[in-house]
Amino acid sequence: MPLPWKRASTPEPSLRRGLLCLPPLLLASALGLGPARLGPASQDAGPGSTAPEARIDDGRTSRLEDVSASACVGCHAPVLEEWRESAHALAWKDERYQKALSKVRREESCTGCHIPEPLSSSLPLAPGASTRTTRPRARDEHKQLGVSCSACHLAADGATVLGPFGLETDAHPTRRDPRFEVETASATCLPCHSTTIGPVIGVGKDFIASDQEGLGLSCTECHMPPIRRPIASDPEGQITYPERRGRSHRILGPRDPAFLRRAFSLEVEGTAQGSATLVVTNRAGHRVPGMTERRFVFRARLVDAHGTLLDEGELVLDTRAYLPVEGTRQLTLSGRGAARIEVDARHEATGLGRGGHVFLTDVLALD
Ligand code: HEC
Ligand code: HEC
Ligand code: HEC
Ligand code: HEC
Ligand code: HEC
Repeated sequence: MPLPWKRASTPEPSLRRGLLCLPPLLLASALGLGPARLGPASQDAGPGSTAPEARIDDGRTSRLEDVSASACVGCHAPVLEEWRESAHALAWKDERYQKALSKVRREESCTGCHIPEPLSSSLPLAPGASTRTTRPRARDEHKQLGVSCSACHLAADGATVLGPFGLETDAHPTRRDPRFEVETASATCLPCHSTTIGPVIGVGKDFIASDQEGLGLSCTECHMPPIRRPIASDPEGQITYPERRGRSHRILGPRDPAFLRRAFSLEVEGTAQGSATLVVTNRAGHRVPGMTERRFVFRARLVDAHGTLLDEGELVLDTRAYLPVEGTRQLTLSGRGAARIEVDARHEATGLGRGGHVFLTDVLALD
């Protein structure tokens, strides 16, 4: 099974490259390569799957309760139910954001991305354009809706809805726009995700610098897994709309453990001298972690065939010691008679839960 974000059914180029250069003693545990690691309820399970994997409770609000002010609420229940659980819906309500906002002198520098006007009203969003330093403008009504439906979908005329299909409907004019087609959809995400400000790192810049689009990747391919469901709903329950191919607006992120695992592949390299090196490689489309105050801690234990501990160590990824795209970090352990490395990895975020959460455990055999 290909990684969910790889369009082709063959392994993606970078990963294939990685596997081909494995020395004879190197054993790969490419996390996320096999469906076995995903679990049956994974949202990544493919088209048709709507059962979301349980999210980690990291202390953040997990659902926007009051959506009554949304202009789309009566007719797009399926999409709205996804979106209201995303960080986008909570971008204004988020207590951590509100706390940070209360400490800034110029609020205007913080609002454009958290409560934007429709992007097309303030930004020239030509798909394929690579530098986007202009920030969206803030709106002053319905702030509680954060990054709302209209922010991404409403055209500059304030009436036409942009989308991937260009469907005919009496509800509103629609227009097919490349910003909603998977190959070029990153243009929708880059205006807000390419600036480093406050605790935020502009990961969009990494994405562009490493030419992920050239590799056939987009933000939506990884963060909005494909699903099939009706896209519209009738408040009176009279009309049933057809199922359509779409992408989940719930947005996969650091709260989804299976998704976090996909950021990394692990390999172990053994030598005849009794040392073993754990190699961690970044498989995300940008650096990890993507925010200050967030860290990944990999703990490795080298054991012999009886499970006796020979050596142990830790590898920490944070804002300073981050992993760039396709970057690797290594941890070497030594001990006579080593049989395997047992690894676990924790994701930590300041102010979000105690001690972080373990999102990965693995055993890599040496032979
Ligand atoms: C260019 C767009 C942009 C601007 C301007 C912006 N932010 Fe954000 N903000 C984001 C994005 C994107 C994220 C999500 C980053 C992530 O999850 O990695 C975010 C997340 C946050 C978070 C983290 C929320 C959490 O629960 O972890 C805080 C706090 C925050 N921003 C505060 C601010 C403050 C304070 C300002 C003004 C100084 C500001 N932001 C201006 C785009 C922006
Ligand atoms: C009165 C009901 C109604 C309202 C209000 C409404 N929509 Fe729609 N919308 C529909 C229907 C019906 C369709 C077509 C569904 C189908 O054929 O499967 C549609 C289609 C769409 C599409 C697909 C566009 C394409 O590519 O063809 C998008 C995107 C969309 N709506 C977004 C929105 C957004 C965003 C809002 C709020 C600003 C909104 N809609 C408000 C009923 C509505
Ligand atoms: C209008 C600005 C804006 C646009 C456009 C935008 N985002 Fe965001 N995004 C944000 C903000 C703000 C946050 C953080 C909200 C918070 O936590 O307070 C965020 C958070 C996120 C997160 C972190 C999720 C989590 O659960 O922690 C991901 C992933 C993300 N966005 C992906 C995307 C993708 C993919 C697109 C394009 C389809 C996109 N964003 C478009 C502003 C934007
Ligand atoms: C951060 C930007 C963003 C926000 C906010 C957003 N959308 Fe979308 N939407 C997209 C993108 C990108 C696509 C194209 C996904 C794809 O490849 O099919 C899309 C696709 C759609 C579609 C077509 C079917 C599908 O799922 O692909 C509908 C309908 C839609 N959105 C409605 C909404 C509604 C209603 C809301 C608010 C509840 C909303 N969107 C919020 C970016 C956004
Ligand atoms: C190849 C898949 C892939 C692509 C392409 C990709 N991402 Fe990610 N992204 C991930 C993974 C996996 C994570 C989880 C690791 C993490 O949270 O640091 C992640 C994390 C994030 C986060 C949260 C960062 C943090 O530390 O909290 C944001 C925000 C984000 N991505 C935005 C984007 C945007 C915007 C784009 C397009 C410009 C994009 N991503 C492209 C896989 C991808």
